[in-house]
Amino acid sequence: MNVDADRRSPPCVLVIFGASGDLTARKLLPALERLAGYGALPAEVALVGVARTPMTDAEFGDLCRRSVSGEGHPRWKDLTAAARYVHGDYDDPATYQRLADVLAECDHRHGTAGNRVHYLATPPRLFGPIAISLGKAGLSVPAGEGFVRAVVEKPFGWDEVSARELYAELSSAFAEEQIFRIDHYLAKETVQNLLALRFANSIFEPIWNRTWVDNVQITVAETLGVGERGGFYETTGAMRDIVQNHVLQVLSLFLMEPPTSFHPEAIRDEKVKLLRAIQPLDEEAEIAANAVRGQYTRGGTREDLMPGYRDEPGVDPLSATETFVAMRLEVQNWRWTGVPVYVRTGKRLPARLTEVAMEFRRPPQLPLFPGQEQGLEPDALIVRVQPDEGLSLRFGAKVPGHAFRVQKASMDFSYESFDEQSPDAYERVILDALIGDPTLFIRADEVGRSWRIVDPVMRYWADDERPIPLYQAATWGPPEAGSLVARDGRRWRHSS
Ligand code: BG6
Repeated sequence: MNVDADRRSPPCVLVIFGASGDLTARKLLPALERLAGYGALPAEVALVGVARTPMTDAEFGDLCRRSVSGEGHPRWKDLTAAARYVHGDYDDPATYQRLADVLAECDHRHGTAGNRVHYLATPPRLFGPIAISLGKAGLSVPAGEGFVRAVVEKPFGWDEVSARELYAELSSAFAEEQIFRIDHYLAKETVQNLLALRFANSIFEPIWNRTWVDNVQITVAETLGVGERGGFYETTGAMRDIVQNHVLQVLSLFLMEPPTSFHPEAIRDEKVKLLRAIQPLDEEAEIAANAVRGQYTRGGTREDLMPGYRDEPGVDPLSATETFVAMRLEVQNWRWTGVPVYVRTGKRLPARLTEVAMEFRRPPQLPLFPGQEQGLEPDALIVRVQPDEGLSLRFGAKVPGHAFRVQKASMDFSYESFDEQSPDAYERVILDALIGDPTLFIRADEVGRSWRIVDPVMRYWADDERPIPLYQAATWGPPEAGSLVARDGRRWRHSS
């Protein structure tokens, strides 16, 4: 893959906090290796790792090279051979003093011009303390025309209040435009394609509203369980892990008003307007009727028997943490009032599938086709975010023959029809942060508004003494999720 000239990093030091950790080894370093291979990281880009594990510069360079398969491009070898490492506690001012010295040396040696991107690949509880320390050490302020940015990844707080506290800590050192909050879903090609689908075409816009759309369904289904992340998941759950961020971000891009331009702020303004139009479920009765949680139990086939959530390592045997959420939301604005938006996510569901679907209203005169309900399922537009990335338009067509029978047919577009490959989400976000394009990052007001939507439900569940509904691994969630949609006379697009 070649990178456009304007998709090349400017001179800069990329500082990775948590450099000896899992995220760095699994995601960041392989993404950097690919970016180096595409020519996106010129010689004026340097790499510095910071972490508590003692290591020399050379050992850190080795760790970088070991994190990728093969030898890598010569530029990757140069980048890692020159990589620097700062070892120390994150709350010790001496760590930041050493970092300042190393950064000055990088400027001198590599021409990095005082520009820095601090990537906080640490546990989230360290985001605030690191930002504050960077501020105190004078490492958050750009020199002259240059830039300093901080990149953080969800969770952005644990609820609305803690998100506000985190915001206060980050903004004690960084201005909002310096803070890049990652949601890796926004970096998925198919999620970005929502913008092209909606705004590079004219055929969809006339039907993108309550007059034509019957309901919207967003599903983020995973087949995996929590694996080794039980300890983390116990305090997180599906609502905080997926709904508060990935689901609401995808939903807002899908349903927002057209932005006035593709300027990052114009798009983010529209997303936050859409989030504000979602009525939080505040009353207990409303929550009980419109939000469903669930937890997986042992299930699968005899050959492939999967453990229940409570049997996973690091999980409380009496845990009430939800591994499944389904909600019925309403967007109260001119375009969408009255159109239910069903969202759903879960671990250990029967398929790995993320899709956004719009079902259209039925034709006014169904009696024209008596007894053909199956073929007359609602028409639908389905954006397949993953796997099998693409788009389908489903509609009824006559089956050839003497009888007049209607059957569902589909027009499909697959991303495979392009020769180009999609970049990995982390390649995309790292390069965007280096370049300074905030389009795919979440703004503070979006974070706050998303917590406002999920917080009341989380509080209600925390106080609810009834046992959490269960579902067997490899099924589509508890029966209550089906009832949520059936009550409206509808069905989930995938449910058996
Ligand atoms: C992460 C969640 O944000 O997204 C994980 O913390 C989840 O629990 C993952 O598995 C899903 O991402 P993807 O890209 O595999 O759909």
